[in-house]
Amino acid sequence: MALNLNDIQQLLVKRGAQQYGREAVSQLEHALQCAHLAEVAGESDALVVACLLHDLGHLLASESPGSMEPDTEPCMDHDKDHDDLHQYKLLPFLRGVLPDDVLEPIRLHVEAKRYLCQAEEGYFESLSPASVHSLALQGGTFTEVEARAFLHQSHAREAVRLRRYDDLAKVPHCAVPPLAHYLPRLEQLMLQAA
Ligand SMILES: [Fe+2]
Repeated sequence: MALNLNDIQQLLVKRGAQQYGREAVSQLEHALQCAHLAEVAGESDALVVACLLHDLGHLLASESPGSMEPDTEPCMDHDKDHDDLHQYKLLPFLRGVLPDDVLEPIRLHVEAKRYLCQAEEGYFESLSPASVHSLALQGGTFTEVEARAFLHQSHAREAVRLRRYDDLAKVPHCAVPPLAHYLPRLEQLMLQAA
């Protein structure tokens, strides 16, 4: 079940051609832009890699990673009437493969949106229509109590920063470094976790 470096690369390259929900970028473009925003902000290697992989759960289809076929159809919770829980779906595939510094911000990045809607004035209004749609499916804005509880979790602040890069990583035809730019540090983190 655990993904190796090649599996992750194949998922991003082959299934990454899918449109990112209702946004005007592909899944791979979104992942690369998100990682780039984290890198230029001076984030740790772990958070840059978390940004790169945060939506990999969307790309995990029902079949095994060994049978990944190119697919350009939109495939994301934004286009469905239910939450696909992609932030949790990915975790069993990466447990023991990457450290918690990568996995926990990924696990919490949807909750981070629900948190920011409660905690930050104007954040909800800044969301794209697709993100507002998925927010409703994901449980909506946190209450004050839920927001406080969220922030007490380990890696919650990293998840909030990931979320901000996530929200900005939707620019069509944006020139950013390719996937190969991130593979050495992804591999390094995998070696550390092994
Ligand atoms: Fe995303």
